[in-house]
Amino acid sequence: MNKKVTKAIIPAAGLGTRFLPATKAMPKEMLPILNKPTIEYIVEEAVASGIEDILIVTGKGKRAIEDHFDNNFELEDNLLKKGKFELLKEVRASSRVEIHYIRQKEPKGLGHAIWTARKFIGNEPFAVLLGDDIVRSKEPCLKQLIGKYDEMQSSIIGVQTVPGDQTYRYGIIEPTQNDGRCYEVRNFIEKPVPGTAPSNLAIMGRYILTPEIFRYLEKQEIGAGGEVQLTDAIQKLNKVQNVYAYDFEGKRYDVGEMIGFIRTTIEFALENEEYKSEVEEIMIELLKIKSMVKIL
Ligand code: UTP
Repeated sequence: MNKKVTKAIIPAAGLGTRFLPATKAMPKEMLPILNKPTIEYIVEEAVASGIEDILIVTGKGKRAIEDHFDNNFELEDNLLKKGKFELLKEVRASSRVEIHYIRQKEPKGLGHAIWTARKFIGNEPFAVLLGDDIVRSKEPCLKQLIGKYDEMQSSIIGVQTVPGDQTYRYGIIEPTQNDGRCYEVRNFIEKPVPGTAPSNLAIMGRYILTPEIFRYLEKQEIGAGGEVQLTDAIQKLNKVQNVYAYDFEGKRYDVGEMIGFIRTTIEFALENEEYKSEVEEIMIELLKIKSMVKIL
Protein backbone atom coordinates (compact mmCIF):
# COMPACT_ATOMS: atom_id res chain seq x y z
CA MET A 1 0.00 0.00 0.00
CA ASN A 2 1.22 3.52 -0.81
CA LYS A 3 2.28 5.55 2.19
CA LYS A 4 1.16 9.14 2.71
CA VAL A 5 3.42 12.02 3.70
CA THR A 6 2.13 13.20 7.09
CA LYS A 7 5.34 14.11 8.95
CA ALA A 8 7.69 17.04 8.39
CA ILE A 9 11.07 18.00 9.81
CA ILE A 10 12.04 21.65 10.20
CA PRO A 11 15.75 21.82 11.06
CA ALA A 12 16.48 24.89 13.16
CA ALA A 13 19.67 24.03 15.01
CA GLY A 14 22.16 25.98 12.86
CA LEU A 15 24.32 28.76 14.26
CA GLY A 16 22.89 31.52 12.04
CA THR A 17 26.33 33.10 11.59
CA ARG A 18 25.17 35.32 8.74
CA PHE A 19 23.00 37.27 11.16
CA LEU A 20 25.48 37.70 13.99
CA PRO A 21 25.39 39.41 16.45
CA ALA A 22 21.54 39.29 16.35
CA THR A 23 21.71 35.49 16.56
CA LYS A 24 24.07 35.34 19.54
CA ALA A 25 21.15 34.90 21.93
CA MET A 26 18.19 34.69 19.54
CA PRO A 27 17.51 31.89 17.04
CA LYS A 28 17.78 33.00 13.41
CA GLU A 29 14.44 31.26 12.84
CA MET A 30 12.78 33.77 15.21
CA LEU A 31 13.87 36.83 13.20
CA PRO A 32 10.59 38.38 12.04
CA ILE A 33 9.32 39.40 8.62
CA LEU A 34 6.93 42.14 9.75
CA ASN A 35 5.26 40.76 12.91
CA LYS A 36 5.80 37.04 12.32
CA PRO A 37 8.95 34.95 12.93
CA THR A 38 10.25 33.31 9.75
CA ILE A 39 9.70 29.83 11.19
CA GLU A 40 5.99 30.52 11.56
CA TYR A 41 5.64 31.07 7.79
CA ILE A 42 7.26 27.65 7.35
CA VAL A 43 4.99 25.95 9.88
CA GLU A 44 1.97 27.53 8.14
CA GLU A 45 3.08 26.12 4.78
CA ALA A 46 3.46 22.64 6.28
CA VAL A 47 0.01 22.77 7.87
CA ALA A 48 -1.57 24.11 4.65
CA SER A 49 0.05 21.18 2.81
CA GLY A 50 -1.70 18.60 5.00
CA ILE A 51 1.20 17.77 7.36
CA GLU A 52 -0.09 16.40 10.67
CA ASP A 53 3.09 16.15 12.77
CA ILE A 54 5.98 18.59 12.71
CA LEU A 55 9.34 17.93 14.31
CA ILE A 56 11.56 20.94 14.87
CA VAL A 57 15.24 20.12 15.33
CA THR A 58 16.58 22.62 17.84
CA GLY A 59 19.84 23.10 19.68
CA LYS A 60 21.63 25.34 22.13
CA GLY A 61 20.05 28.80 22.49
CA LYS A 62 16.85 27.85 20.63
CA ARG A 63 14.37 27.80 23.53
CA ALA A 64 12.50 30.83 22.13
CA ILE A 65 11.16 28.61 19.32
CA GLU A 66 9.47 26.25 21.79
CA ASP A 67 8.08 29.18 23.77
CA HIS A 68 6.72 30.75 20.61
CA PHE A 69 4.61 27.75 19.65
CA ASP A 70 3.46 27.17 23.23
CA ASN A 71 0.33 28.63 24.85
CA ASN A 72 1.07 31.89 26.61
CA PHE A 73 -1.67 32.25 29.19
CA GLU A 74 -0.53 35.60 30.66
CA LEU A 75 -0.26 37.22 27.23
CA GLU A 76 -3.60 35.83 26.03
CA ASP A 77 -5.32 36.95 29.23
CA ASN A 78 -3.84 40.41 28.91
CA LEU A 79 -4.98 40.78 25.27
CA LEU A 80 -8.44 39.50 26.19
CA LYS A 81 -8.81 42.02 29.03
CA LYS A 82 -7.71 44.86 26.74
CA GLY A 83 -10.17 43.74 24.04
CA LYS A 84 -7.37 43.21 21.50
CA PHE A 85 -9.19 40.35 19.78
CA GLU A 86 -7.41 40.44 16.42
CA LEU A 87 -4.01 40.16 18.12
CA LEU A 88 -5.36 37.43 20.38
CA LYS A 89 -6.42 35.43 17.31
CA GLU A 90 -2.92 35.70 15.84
CA VAL A 91 -1.23 34.72 19.10
CA ARG A 92 -3.51 31.69 19.49
CA ALA A 93 -2.94 30.60 15.87
CA SER A 94 0.77 30.14 16.55
CA SER A 95 0.13 27.57 19.29
CA ARG A 96 -2.53 25.48 17.56
CA VAL A 97 -0.46 22.89 15.64
CA GLU A 98 1.08 19.70 17.00
CA ILE A 99 4.82 20.34 17.16
CA HIS A 100 7.48 18.02 18.56
CA TYR A 101 11.08 18.89 19.38
CA ILE A 102 14.39 17.11 19.35
CA ARG A 103 17.83 18.53 20.07
CA GLN A 104 20.83 18.24 17.80
CA LYS A 105 23.64 18.29 20.32
CA GLU A 106 26.18 19.80 17.94
CA PRO A 107 25.51 21.66 14.68
CA LYS A 108 27.33 19.19 12.44
CA GLY A 109 25.34 20.12 9.34
CA LEU A 110 21.91 19.79 7.76
CA GLY A 111 22.39 16.08 6.98
CA HIS A 112 23.17 15.40 10.63
CA ALA A 113 20.14 17.45 11.78
CA ILE A 114 17.84 15.30 9.62
CA TRP A 115 19.52 12.11 10.88
CA THR A 116 18.68 13.04 14.50
CA ALA A 117 14.98 12.77 13.52
CA ARG A 118 15.19 9.15 12.27
CA LYS A 119 13.24 7.60 15.17
CA PHE A 120 10.43 10.15 14.84
CA ILE A 121 10.11 9.34 11.13
CA GLY A 122 10.36 5.53 11.29
CA ASN A 123 9.68 3.80 7.98
CA GLU A 124 7.63 6.50 6.24
CA PRO A 125 8.20 9.08 3.52
CA PHE A 126 8.57 12.54 5.06
CA ALA A 127 8.97 16.23 4.24
CA VAL A 128 11.81 18.62 5.09
CA LEU A 129 11.31 22.39 5.07
CA LEU A 130 14.15 24.85 5.60
CA GLY A 131 13.48 28.28 7.03
CA ASP A 132 15.89 30.02 4.65
CA ASP A 133 13.25 30.14 1.95
CA ILE A 134 9.71 31.44 2.30
CA VAL A 135 7.60 30.54 -0.74
CA ARG A 136 4.38 32.25 -1.72
CA SER A 137 2.31 30.40 -4.29
CA LYS A 138 -1.28 29.59 -5.24
CA GLU A 139 -0.87 26.00 -4.12
CA PRO A 140 1.53 25.72 -1.13
CA CYS A 141 4.99 24.70 -2.33
CA LEU A 142 5.16 21.60 -0.13
CA LYS A 143 1.70 20.53 -1.29
CA GLN A 144 2.93 20.60 -4.90
CA LEU A 145 5.80 18.27 -3.97
CA ILE A 146 3.53 15.95 -1.99
CA GLY A 147 1.20 15.76 -5.01
CA LYS A 148 4.15 14.73 -7.18
CA TYR A 149 5.30 12.21 -4.57
CA ASP A 150 1.83 10.61 -4.53
CA GLU A 151 2.12 10.18 -8.29
CA MET A 152 5.77 8.98 -8.47
CA GLN A 153 6.25 7.23 -5.08
CA SER A 154 9.86 8.48 -5.14
CA SER A 155 11.82 11.20 -3.37
CA ILE A 156 11.10 14.68 -4.80
CA ILE A 157 13.36 17.70 -4.30
CA GLY A 158 12.06 21.25 -4.84
CA VAL A 159 14.18 23.34 -7.23
CA GLN A 160 14.07 26.73 -8.92
CA THR A 161 16.31 28.55 -11.39
CA VAL A 162 18.97 30.89 -9.99
CA PRO A 163 21.35 33.27 -11.86
CA GLY A 164 24.54 31.58 -13.11
CA ASP A 165 26.77 33.60 -10.77
CA GLN A 166 24.81 32.39 -7.72
CA THR A 167 24.99 28.60 -8.22
CA TYR A 168 27.97 28.23 -5.85
CA ARG A 169 25.67 29.09 -2.91
CA TYR A 170 23.28 26.17 -3.46
CA GLY A 171 22.87 22.45 -4.02
CA ILE A 172 22.65 22.17 -7.82
CA ILE A 173 21.17 19.37 -9.93
CA GLU A 174 22.46 17.89 -13.18
CA PRO A 175 19.23 17.00 -14.97
CA THR A 176 19.00 14.37 -17.70
CA GLN A 177 15.47 14.79 -19.00
CA ASN A 178 12.23 16.37 -17.92
CA ASP A 179 8.51 15.87 -18.14
CA GLY A 180 7.11 19.36 -17.63
CA ARG A 181 8.30 20.62 -14.26
CA CYS A 182 9.65 17.24 -13.14
CA TYR A 183 13.33 16.34 -13.84
CA GLU A 184 15.23 13.09 -13.78
CA VAL A 185 18.58 13.81 -12.18
CA ARG A 186 22.06 12.39 -12.82
CA ASN A 187 23.87 14.26 -10.07
CA PHE A 188 23.17 16.40 -7.02
CA ILE A 189 26.15 18.63 -6.21
CA GLU A 190 26.40 20.71 -3.02
CA LYS A 191 27.86 24.20 -3.52
CA PRO A 192 29.72 23.64 -6.82
CA VAL A 193 32.92 25.61 -7.40
CA PRO A 194 32.00 28.82 -9.36
CA GLY A 195 31.86 28.13 -13.09
CA THR A 196 31.43 24.35 -12.73
CA ALA A 197 27.67 24.02 -12.07
CA PRO A 198 25.97 21.64 -14.54
CA SER A 199 22.74 23.70 -14.51
CA ASN A 200 21.09 26.71 -12.89
CA LEU A 201 18.50 24.57 -11.09
CA ALA A 202 19.06 24.99 -7.36
CA ILE A 203 17.65 23.06 -4.39
CA MET A 204 15.33 25.40 -2.51
CA GLY A 205 14.79 23.95 0.95
CA ARG A 206 11.75 21.77 0.29
CA TYR A 207 12.15 17.99 0.12
CA ILE A 208 10.06 14.83 0.16
CA LEU A 209 12.35 11.92 1.09
CA THR A 210 11.89 8.19 1.45
CA PRO A 211 13.18 6.70 4.75
CA GLU A 212 16.03 4.95 2.87
CA ILE A 213 17.86 8.31 3.05
CA PHE A 214 18.78 7.46 6.66
CA ARG A 215 21.05 4.62 5.44
CA TYR A 216 23.27 7.25 3.80
CA LEU A 217 22.97 9.88 6.53
CA GLU A 218 24.03 7.22 9.03
CA LYS A 219 27.57 7.28 7.58
CA GLN A 220 27.86 10.97 8.55
CA GLU A 221 30.42 11.69 5.86
CA ILE A 222 31.76 15.21 5.95
CA GLY A 223 31.11 17.29 2.81
CA ALA A 224 31.23 20.94 1.66
CA GLY A 225 32.01 23.44 4.43
CA GLY A 226 33.12 20.64 6.78
CA GLU A 227 29.46 19.67 7.42
CA VAL A 228 27.38 16.50 6.98
CA GLN A 229 25.45 17.49 3.85
CA LEU A 230 21.94 16.29 3.03
CA THR A 231 22.68 16.77 -0.69
CA ASP A 232 25.51 14.18 -0.53
CA ALA A 233 23.14 11.57 0.97
CA ILE A 234 20.54 12.39 -1.71
CA GLN A 235 23.19 11.87 -4.40
CA LYS A 236 23.87 8.38 -2.99
CA LEU A 237 20.18 7.54 -2.63
CA ASN A 238 19.66 8.51 -6.28
CA LYS A 239 22.06 5.72 -7.34
CA VAL A 240 19.72 3.04 -5.95
CA GLN A 241 16.31 4.73 -6.04
CA ASN A 242 15.19 7.51 -8.40
CA VAL A 243 15.20 10.94 -6.81
CA TYR A 244 13.37 13.55 -8.91
CA ALA A 245 13.63 17.33 -8.92
CA TYR A 246 10.48 19.40 -9.21
CA ASP A 247 10.56 23.00 -10.42
CA PHE A 248 7.77 24.25 -8.18
CA GLU A 249 5.47 27.17 -8.98
CA GLY A 250 5.70 30.21 -6.71
CA LYS A 251 7.78 33.16 -5.65
CA ARG A 252 10.63 32.31 -3.34
CA TYR A 253 12.02 34.77 -0.80
CA ASP A 254 15.56 34.17 0.39
CA VAL A 255 15.46 35.15 4.07
CA GLY A 256 18.62 33.23 5.03
CA GLU A 257 20.96 36.09 4.10
CA MET A 258 20.87 39.80 4.85
CA ILE A 259 19.96 41.35 1.47
CA GLY A 260 17.28 38.73 0.82
CA PHE A 261 15.92 39.34 4.31
CA ILE A 262 15.74 43.14 3.80
CA ARG A 263 14.13 42.70 0.39
CA THR A 264 11.51 40.30 1.78
CA THR A 265 10.64 42.68 4.62
CA ILE A 266 10.16 45.55 2.16
CA GLU A 267 8.11 43.45 -0.30
CA PHE A 268 5.86 42.04 2.43
CA ALA A 269 5.35 45.53 3.91
CA LEU A 270 4.45 46.95 0.48
CA GLU A 271 1.80 44.24 0.09
CA ASN A 272 0.38 44.72 3.57
CA GLU A 273 -2.86 46.79 3.62
CA GLU A 274 -2.00 48.31 7.00
CA TYR A 275 1.54 49.44 6.23
CA LYS A 276 1.84 49.82 2.48
CA SER A 277 1.00 53.52 1.98
CA GLU A 278 3.30 54.67 4.78
CA VAL A 279 6.12 52.42 3.62
CA GLU A 280 5.70 53.76 0.06
CA GLU A 281 5.95 57.32 1.40
CA ILE A 282 9.08 56.46 3.38
CA MET A 283 10.69 54.90 0.32
CA ILE A 284 9.86 57.87 -1.92
CA GLU A 285 11.21 60.26 0.71
CA LEU A 286 14.45 58.28 1.09
CA LEU A 287 14.95 58.01 -2.66
CA LYS A 288 14.37 61.77 -3.06
CA ILE A 289 17.02 62.51 -0.41
CA LYS A 290 19.41 60.12 -2.13
CA SER A 291 18.95 61.73 -5.55
CA MET A 292 19.28 65.25 -4.06
CA VAL A 293 22.57 64.24 -2.46
CA LYS A 294 23.74 62.98 -5.86
CA ILE A 295 22.82 66.32 -7.55
CA LEU A 296 24.69 68.29 -4.86
P1 UTP B 1 22.00 27.12 7.05
O1 UTP B 1 23.39 26.87 6.69
O2 UTP B 1 21.22 28.04 6.19
O3 UTP B 1 21.84 27.68 8.54
O4 UTP B 1 21.24 25.73 7.21
P2 UTP B 1 22.89 28.19 9.56
O5 UTP B 1 24.05 27.26 9.57
O6 UTP B 1 22.17 28.40 10.83
O7 UTP B 1 23.21 29.62 8.95
P3 UTP B 1 24.60 30.34 8.68
O8 UTP B 1 25.09 29.78 7.36
O9 UTP B 1 25.51 30.06 9.82
O10 UTP B 1 24.20 31.79 8.58
C1 UTP B 1 19.93 25.49 6.72
C2 UTP B 1 19.00 25.05 7.83
O11 UTP B 1 19.51 23.91 8.48
C3 UTP B 1 19.58 24.11 9.88
C4 UTP B 1 19.62 25.61 10.09
O12 UTP B 1 19.04 25.96 11.34
C5 UTP B 1 18.81 26.13 8.91
O13 UTP B 1 17.44 26.22 9.20
N1 UTP B 1 20.78 23.43 10.41
C6 UTP B 1 22.00 23.66 9.85
C7 UTP B 1 20.64 22.56 11.48
O14 UTP B 1 19.53 22.35 12.00
N2 UTP B 1 21.76 21.96 11.97
C8 UTP B 1 22.98 22.16 11.44
O15 UTP B 1 23.96 21.54 11.94
C9 UTP B 1 23.11 23.04 10.37
